[in-house]
Amino acid sequence: MVRSALLGAARSDRLRHTVERLPLTRNAAARYVGGAEQSDVVRVAGELAGEGLAVTIDHLAEDVRDRARATAVAQAYVTLLEALHKAELTTDVEVSVQLSALGRALPADGPAIALENAQQICQAAADAGTTVTVDMEDHTTTDATLDVVRDLRADFPDVGAVLQAHLKRTEADCRDLAHAGSRVRLCKGAYDEPESVAYRDRGDVDRSYVRCMKVLFAGDGYPMIATHDPRLVEIAGSLAARHRREQGSYEYQMLYGIRGREQRRLVRAGERVRVYVPYGPEWYGYLVRRLAERPANLSLFLRSVASS
Ligand code: FDA
Repeated sequence: MVRSALLGAARSDRLRHTVERLPLTRNAAARYVGGAEQSDVVRVAGELAGEGLAVTIDHLAEDVRDRARATAVAQAYVTLLEALHKAELTTDVEVSVQLSALGRALPADGPAIALENAQQICQAAADAGTTVTVDMEDHTTTDATLDVVRDLRADFPDVGAVLQAHLKRTEADCRDLAHAGSRVRLCKGAYDEPESVAYRDRGDVDRSYVRCMKVLFAGDGYPMIATHDPRLVEIAGSLAARHRREQGSYEYQMLYGIRGREQRRLVRAGERVRVYVPYGPEWYGYLVRRLAERPANLSLFLRSVASS
């Protein structure tokens, strides 16, 4: 119930405007968001890189409903990549993009506009010496997103794909994508999906995650294990050992602000760990979705809003 209420709050424009006006630095959102401005996130990325963590940066943009905004988001990525290059951070720092933020839902030619914007970002990333991963959104967009990844890989073979273990189709998708050079981020899946396409029971999702990891570790691609779940992290380690994979031939990924101690423990153990850092003025929806995953964090957030 708390989760549904929070997901409803994520869609409330009034709440969004009130909360986004609060200064991010005095707000619990700062724990999960790398800042409202590009300069903030470049600084955060530099600090994380200094601790031996790799980073992927997401420019937050919700409800992109016109072409000018989609172009502005793509441009924000281009200038971000230039800034990261200038700060000599692109060995460790890449970007993650959501196709909806690049215009996919626009009424006319949305998918073509999103592809064009994604190509522009991939070119800027290649010029800066780094990579792009295409986030996965709800199940109605899975095929279209994988098609875009395939198109992008024709020119930029290191573009990363994301697969969601809660979808019943994902084990088969892992098989398709577990080939040499293919970077695949495996996550549980953040969207509330119907039983017809997704496992709804947490145990079933975890079992699917393990089956998917087995496929990815046995394959020739580059698995990116995106979870905070201690059991799954441990199983990933066992699978890496079983398949004699060297450290650095796969990586762990976690969200900024979640299980930071574990991120650093893995780095000390010689593992490659990438932190997903979202940023931008439109951080409200992202924050509420993180709180919905763990309502225990809600009181912390409300206290910080009350004291702002
Ligand atoms: P689970 O939710 O079961 O959590 C396991 C443990 O992690 C918890 O018991 C707790 O200890 C800790 N934890 C988890 N969430 C927490 C929180 N908010 N606060 C504090 N502790 C918390 N999804 C998607 O649909 N498309 C995508 O493209 C991506 N991309 C992506 C990138 C990266 C790098 C990550 C880590 C995750 C995503 N996700 C995503 C989100 C993903 O699908 C999933 O919703 C979250 O990672 C939470 O799932 P866990 O695997 O962590 O397990």
